Order: sequence, then structure tokens, then C-alpha cells
Amino acid sequence: MSSIVLGLHNLVRWAVFLLALVALLRALKGINGGVDYASNAKRSLSLYTMSVHLQFVLGLVLYGVSPLTRHAMGDMGAAMKDPGIRFFVVEHPMLMLLGVIAATVTGIIARRGPDDAVRHRRAAIGIALSMGLILAGIPWQRPLLPSF
Ligand code: HEM
Repeated sequence: MSSIVLGLHNLVRWAVFLLALVALLRALKGINGGVDYASNAKRSLSLYTMSVHLQFVLGLVLYGVSPLTRHAMGDMGAAMKDPGIRFFVVEHPMLMLLGVIAATVTGIIARRGPDDAVRHRRAAIGIALSMGLILAGIPWQRPLLPSF
């Protein structure tokens, strides 16, 4: 069970990146004005946000079933002293939570902008921030693709 969820969690990360990149490029395209925000950029940002929400839920499930986190829960004091374990118990989930919040709040703030250029600019800044937090929280030392 835990290896299936871990494999999915590994794979969905690439969907998150791809959708983040598309959303960022679409937002940047409209920054100078003359591009309707509601047609493409808004939909791309929604898709990106949905993908991070899905990844977040997978992460929560993984947190409950992973042997790594279950073992850590047995002795939190020792887990906090081990940087490798602390990363998955505290740092990874916290950075990802901030990344998810940034993506969600961006969708709300961007669509409330007074005109399309401002909406695109707000979306571009928020997506870049969210992506930065998520990229910083990825365990790059782990496999880039899952082995089911
Ligand atoms: C957008 C959000 C997230 C991304 C992109 C992401 C990405 C990843 C990646 C790439 C791995 C390594 C997978 C592997 O080794 O095959 C991983 C591991 C892990 N993630 Fe996430 N994650 C996210 C959110 C979360 C959240 C919110 C939690 C917990 C609440 C979480 C818990 C974990 C745990 C516990 C592991 C290690 C599990 C193990 O080795 O048994 N993740 N994550």
C-alpha cells in the first residue's frame, strides 16, 4: 500500500511541475495587456492548483502509511535529531503546505484584479512563489521516477 502511494506521489510531482510551467507561461504572456485572463490563464492556474491539492492529499495519505513517518512517530525526539527523517516529518510537509496555500490564494487574488494585465501579473507572481516553495521542498536526492 505505502509503495503504491509513494509511487503515485513521485509521479504526480511531474504533473504538478508541468501544469505549473504552463500556468506560469500563460500568466507571463498576458502581463503587458491585451490578453483575456479568463480564457486560458485562469483555467491553467485552476488545473495547477487542482494538481497540488491532489498531491497534498496523496502526501497526507503517505504520511499515515509510510514506514518512515510511522517509525518516526514512535520516537519523535530521536526523529527530530535526524535531519534526514525530520525533513519528511516536518520540513517537506510544511513547505508543501505553504506552496499549496500560495497557489490557492493566487487564484482568488488574481481573478479579483482590476484588469487583465494586473490579473496576469498577480497570477505570475503567485505561481512563481508557489513553485519556488514546492521546488525547495522536493527531496531531490530520492528517485526521479517511481519503481512500482
Ligand atoms: C505539492 C506537494 C508535494 C510534492 C510535489 C511532493 C513530492 C514528493 C516527492 C517527489 C517525494 C519522494 C518520492 C519518492 O521517493 O519516490 C515525496 C516523499 C514524501 N512526501 Fe511528499 N510531496 C508533496 C506534499 C506532501 C505532503 C503535504 C506530505 C505530508 C503531509 C508529504 C509527505 C511525504 C512523505 C512522508 C514522503 C516520504 C515517504 C517515504 O519515503 O516513505 N508530501 N514527496
